[in-house]
Amino acid sequence: MNISIVGAGYVGLVTGVSLAEIGHNVVCIDTNKEKIEMLKIFKSPIYEPELEELISKNVKEGRLSFTHSYEEGFNNSNVIFIAVGTPSKENGKADLSAIENVASHISNFIKSNVIVVIKSTVPVGTNEYIKELLDKTNNSRFTIDIVSNPEFLREGSAINDIFNGDRIIIGAENNKASRVVEELYKPFNIPIFTTSIRSAEMIKYASNAFLATKISFINEISNLCEKLGANIDDVAIGMGKDKRIGNSFLNAGIGYGGSCFPKDTSALVQIAGNVDHNFMLLKSVIEVNKKQQMSLIEKAKKRFTSLKDLKIALLGLSFKPNTDDIRDAASIVISEELLNLGATVTAYDPVATKQAKKILNKNIYFTDSIEDAIKKANCVFILTEWEEIKKFDLSKLTELMIEPIVFDGRNCFTINQVSAHIIEYHSMGKESVINLN
Ligand code: UDX
Repeated sequence: MNISIVGAGYVGLVTGVSLAEIGHNVVCIDTNKEKIEMLKIFKSPIYEPELEELISKNVKEGRLSFTHSYEEGFNNSNVIFIAVGTPSKENGKADLSAIENVASHISNFIKSNVIVVIKSTVPVGTNEYIKELLDKTNNSRFTIDIVSNPEFLREGSAINDIFNGDRIIIGAENNKASRVVEELYKPFNIPIFTTSIRSAEMIKYASNAFLATKISFINEISNLCEKLGANIDDVAIGMGKDKRIGNSFLNAGIGYGGSCFPKDTSALVQIAGNVDHNFMLLKSVIEVNKKQQMSLIEKAKKRFTSLKDLKIALLGLSFKPNTDDIRDAASIVISEELLNLGATVTAYDPVATKQAKKILNKNIYFTDSIEDAIKKANCVFILTEWEEIKKFDLSKLTELMIEPIVFDGRNCFTINQVSAHIIEYHSMGKESVINLN
């Protein structure tokens, strides 16, 4: 099949590469020329394991190409995927301008009937609205069908997720269009669930909101564990053994970040509000997450009374490991608040420093190693559970820091691991270990 994908971001690029890998002819379109030039020399604009290898393989084998021109990109296509961003506006609403813009170009350049597949996360009803826009500009020259096909891949494991997903959701009002998209996905051998367009749109928001709820829930349980002397690791394992609960997404920490959960939870609260529904549960999930992001600072304030003039090292800046994505990462609000409180902040991340330098406060000292970040520090905050951080030799803390005091926001170490060292260790939902002599 000849497929065009608009938007060479996370979703678009990973989808394009994987559809090429299963044998389709794919052209990825992005108006950002710099990105397209990078892709043409097999350089991925995002850090994602396995992605560059697959880009270069599929381009060399002639199934994948890149262009910044809609005219060239739509020239030959039977199916057009839209995978552009839908960021949050100030009021939490999804900003649809990028999708509207793509829609305005489609009818100008298509040469036959097409199916437009919307992958971007959009409020319920948006696919129908885009269909109306397309029909208006198309003047019935060609038939344009619309299919909602939300994406569930996770950053950092996107390639693995797309080949091993739990389900593919196809929302369509037209059976023929639905069957074409089903056919296109068949080689993945992943269960396909077909439904109405509106239900497909809702599945995406409901799934992300549910996962965010699970995280805020376990974080609240973790806060209680600290006060009541229980251990969150054991509590999560015990809960997870109930198949109805499941053992994933029960890691307590400093809350969720990234490009999806914060944006999609706010958007769903908005969507509900538009139909006079007060989504109280989800509002609390968002509030709990905001509070949770500040929990290491609260712990440090209790320990030191004032953080003024302390040197604090942040380890890990991305919103989770294996990505350079800083969007809505806890590191943003934490570093800002530490500077406000008068602390000196050093920071290390194995991959995300370049992105972090663009977004985080200019007064942060970025380092090239964990050792440099913690040198002469009064305490360490662990913000992302990178393997490099989990494997760090804790005996170096005593050697390098003023005092080996650690606030671990991602539970990178077990109580047993830290107990063997000279350390003061505060983590999430567990007893603190104070072993300084
Ligand atoms: C998420 C969804 O998982 C994916 O299906 C959707 O398509 C996009 O949003 P992503 O944002 O890439 O994917 O990352 P994910 O692995 O889900 O983690 C999101 C955030 O939740 C991270 O900040 C992570 O640290 C946090 N998290 C996750 C926890 O705090 N605890 C957990 O148990 C799981």
